[in-house]
This record gives sequence, structure tokens and C-alpha cells, in this order.
Amino acid sequence: MEKIPTKVFAIAQQGAKFVADKIKATIKKNDAANKMTVLGLATGSTPILLYKELVEMHAKGLSFKNVVSFNLDEYYPMLSGAPQSYNRFMDENLFNHIDIKRENVFIPDGQVPLEEIEKYCENYEKKIDDFGGIDIQILGIGRTGHIGFNEPGSSPKSHTRLVTLDKKTRIDASGDFRNEGNVPRTAITMGVGTISKAKRIYLMAWGDNKSNIVAKAIEGEVSWQVPATFLQNHPKTFFVLDAAASSDLERIKTPWLTESCEWDWPITLKAVCWLCDILKKPVLKLTDEDYNKKGMGDLIAKSGSAYELNLEVFRHLRDTITGWPGGKPGTKDERRPERAEPFPKRSLIFSPHPDDEIASMGGTLIRLVDQGHDVHVAYQTSGNVGVVDDDVINQLNFVKEFAALFNISDTETERYLKKTKEVFMKRDGPQEDLDNVKHIKSLIRKVEAKASCRYCGVSPSNIHFLNLPFYETGKLQKKDLCEKDVEITVQLLREIQPHQVFLSGDQVDPNSTYKICLDVVLEAFKRLENEQWVSDCWIWMYRGTKYEWPISEIDMAVPLSPEEMIRKRQAIIKHKSQMKVPVFAGDVANVSWQQAELKNKKTAGWYDNLGLPEYEGVEVFKRCEF
Ligand code: F6R
Repeated sequence: MEKIPTKVFAIAQQGAKFVADKIKATIKKNDAANKMTVLGLATGSTPILLYKELVEMHAKGLSFKNVVSFNLDEYYPMLSGAPQSYNRFMDENLFNHIDIKRENVFIPDGQVPLEEIEKYCENYEKKIDDFGGIDIQILGIGRTGHIGFNEPGSSPKSHTRLVTLDKKTRIDASGDFRNEGNVPRTAITMGVGTISKAKRIYLMAWGDNKSNIVAKAIEGEVSWQVPATFLQNHPKTFFVLDAAASSDLERIKTPWLTESCEWDWPITLKAVCWLCDILKKPVLKLTDEDYNKKGMGDLIAKSGSAYELNLEVFRHLRDTITGWPGGKPGTKDERRPERAEPFPKRSLIFSPHPDDEIASMGGTLIRLVDQGHDVHVAYQTSGNVGVVDDDVINQLNFVKEFAALFNISDTETERYLKKTKEVFMKRDGPQEDLDNVKHIKSLIRKVEAKASCRYCGVSPSNIHFLNLPFYETGKLQKKDLCEKDVEITVQLLREIQPHQVFLSGDQVDPNSTYKICLDVVLEAFKRLENEQWVSDCWIWMYRGTKYEWPISEIDMAVPLSPEEMIRKRQAIIKHKSQMKVPVFAGDVANVSWQQAELKNKKTAGWYDNLGLPEYEGVEVFKRCEF
């Protein structure tokens, strides 16, 4: 089914290393032949890992002296030093750290006068040709299927030109620009035709967000509506994916349809749930004929009969359901997802931002507290980037009015208020937050998190604000995970010695806060491996409000009654600064409690459709063994 050769790696780092090795080999080969290497480069979050690899390779001796680079695109208009400019991005992520000659770097200029753009673009094309064309072109893919900024409707013959950005693309970029309104409407981009002239192309994609469009690009019909499908006609294009980005490919999603497969338990479970879904039948009603008709006769042969297999799957799914996420004290029921003893448990919930835990597993959190467990919540980052300036102004006004009301004259406070207001006044557009603004934003989120925990009954001494340093850039792009991040986490784990830990296991972009927060905890556990309590600590992973674990991967499902859904909603709403149409949530125009409810109801629907009990909502977890 795959019309483009595709390599899938377990994690993005491996994929990035694979592409970096290809670039290195090409540079070496051309160096040996006294030839320049011409690279076509991309920006965005996808190539960041690749650039880290190249920088490391340079530190170990790889020279870029004989490399010429052409970047795909730049927003228009855009000052080259602006935080969102692709010129600045390239300097910060690659060019400042390697020995490429500045005169060999070409990036579309976001400041060319409008009337000169056509000529400018013609020259850009010509320059690429003058250097003999691009040896290796690096691409990411947008959710619209764009490559470069060639949005749906772009011609396969298009050249470098000024284009209008798709709404989805502008929403995706809104995080970098603080809101969608600030995102430029146009950009200069190499055309599909320009890209297609490259001798070899590597398109990389990481994370769940990309799985759908990646499958369309690789398996779909060539279409102007998905410009990446034009790559099917290029003889040397390769897709490089991580496991999450590959998850919608037929061979991964339904391997039994594409090749004869090893019917181990995870695949069997997945296949049976899939069959129920497409036939709209509950598990216990599937017949031998149903299996046979979908080419799964060998599975039935292996299991004895549809009846046997259906029962096995039904029992498995039934046993994932529990109203006792901390285990049911006093029972000897081994089939429950959590152990009965010890009781009460020390439960530690890690939350990447203040509110992820409540939106993702608020019902479970409330149950754990109600059932008498010692529940701790650790907010890994301050979450200050998610607060808009306007909320800071509101808080400052409150402080001022408060002081006036009670005749409090505190010159220090006055001075601070003045300083912060000055910062806002000097702001001439979207840029990173300065320290005192960051602190106020962190404080806003801290107070809201406390309110939410108070509502759920979490003891104030059990709320931990870790403020991990990797997050504190004041902008969307974060620093790498550092030693201090791990130390802080190790210290907390040692202090609490939890019996169960919940953490966010979202398979998202490797540079995202979620992924870094997951890596920190896993690294901390690795370091604590030899401590006695760790062997008795179970780790459960939840997911954000957008994606859910596939039903076949769920190890624990906690049902929510209508009343519990409302309690969860109330707890989410305590995070007032987040009750806006989310800036970073793509095209989902709901606020977080709506997204959470939609997801929990949808998950409940899966169980219902499979013939299990019907609940108002369900929160689910996957056990992480390491
Ligand atoms: C960037 C570019 C775009 C991105 C695409 C994916 O130079 O041309 O096509 O590659 O929008 O963006 P990320 O990598 O941020 O998901």
C-alpha cells in the first residue's frame, strides 16, 4: 500500500540520526570528489533533532565548509531577527554551531519589498540551479499535507513564490506567535516543482499529530489537496517516521490485512477490537464467518473457535475496568488492574503543566482521594507560557485596587508593578517573556492549581511545584533536559516513595514539554532502580485531552458516573487562565473541560460498543513496565 519507501524507527532520535548519517555520507563523498554539497533545509520542530545530530557530528570533526544550504521558506513579512523568523531559527539551531560559510547560506528574505518578490524568487531558483541543484532535501510535513509552505491547491510544477498560508497552518503556528492573529498570512516558499528537482528527499515526521496526514501522503492517491502526495512521483523520496507518526499506516494499524501476521496477544486484541468496530458488533456476537470474511480465518484456527476467542477478549477487556484505581482494599481478586495492598497507597501524579492531571485523569484523582489514598500532585513545569498578557494585567490591577482598598502602601510592590507595566509597554510584538512577567504568569497558574487541588481534596502539603528549569525559556521552544531537572525529580520520588505513579505518556513531538516531562521521570526512575521501594512502585501512563490509548493497549479503565464528570469539570474550571479557546490546541475550538469530556465519553463509547457496560465517561491508563 505504501507508495513511498518508508522507514519507521522506535523513537524520533533514531530517525534523526539515520538522516544525519545520510547527510554526513553525502558530504564526505562530495568532499572526496572535490564537490560542494547542496542541502535543502527545513525549519519547524521536526528537524530540531536532526540539527542537534549534525551539530554533534561537527563537534566530532564533520566539516560543513563545502556545504551550501537553501532553506525552504520564510514567513512574509518577517524581520530576520524576530523570534519567529526562520532565519533566526536556523542560526540558533544549526548555523551558529557549525562551520558553514555564511556566504553559502540562503534563506528566503522576509523583508524583500513586495514589488521585488517575483524577481527575488526567480533568482532564488536560479541560484539553486547554479549550484547544480539540491543533493539532499529535508522536509517536514504540515497537518494540511503541505511541504515547505505549499498548501493544498499548490501545483506540482510550482516554483519559489509568495503564497497564502492555510488556516490550519496559521493555527499550528499560533503558539510561536502568542495567538493566531499575529501569524503572518503569507510566506515565501520553494515550490513543489523546486523541491521535486532535488536528487534525494527525506521527509521526517514525529508524533501522533502527524500520523493521519503521513498515511494519506504515503498511501493515498496523488492529489493537489495533499501536496505531499506529489512526492510519490519522485524516484528518490524516503519518509522517516517514529512509531507514533507511523501508527495510521495500514501495515501498522491493521497488519493482518497487509501480510500474514504473528498472532501474539496484543495483535489479536487489536484485531478483534478492529473487527467489532468495522462490523459494528459487540465482541460476544462475532462469528467464525465474520472472522473468515475479513481474512482472519487463521486466527480462529489458532484459537479453536470464534466463541473461545471472543470470550477471552471479552474477559480481558472486562478485567481492565475498575472503580478502584488504587486497588480495592481487603479483596483477593487478582484480576483487578491494581493490587489491593498496601492500603492506603501513596499515589504520586506527575502533571507536565498545572492542569494536565485534572483534564486527563481528574475523575481518577478524585476517586483516589475519596477512597482514602495519600495523593500527591507534582506539577513539573510552571506552565507560564500558557498565560496571556491580559491575565497579568488583570492581576496587577487587582493588586493595585487591593492596596488602595486597605490603604496598604508598599513601595516595593508599587515599584514592582511599575516595572512590569513598563515591560508590557515596551513590547512591540510577540516575543519571549522577561523574568518578572514569567514569574507573575507562573504565580497565576500556581494559585489556580492550588484551587483545583483544594476542590479535589488534595492536602496542601501534598502539592509540589517542581518548576523544572528546562521549561523556563519564556517561549514555546524549550531547552534540553538537564541534570537539574532529573535531580529535582529524583529528590521528590525519594521523599515520597510512592506505591503508584501516574504520568503523562503522550506520544507527541519529541521536543514538546510532554515528551521531556515523560523522559525526566523515566530517567529519574532509572537512577533509583536499585532502591527497595521502586520494585513495589507501579507506573501508570495517561494521555492528554486529544488522544487516547487504543483500546487494545489499555490496562486500567476507570469509569466515571455523571456526577463524577461534573466534579471533574468543576475542578478543571478552577484553572481560569486556561478557560479560553486554546492557543496551542490546533483546530479544536473547545475549552479544556469540553475536550476532556468529549474524550472520556468517546472512550466510554468504545466499551459500550464492544458489549461491555455503558458508562458516562471512562479514563484509561496503560501500565509502564521498565
Ligand atoms: C518549515 C516548513 C514546513 C514544516 C511543517 C511541519 O520550513 O517548510 O513545511 O516542515 O509545517 O512543521 P513542524 O516540523 O513544526 O511540525
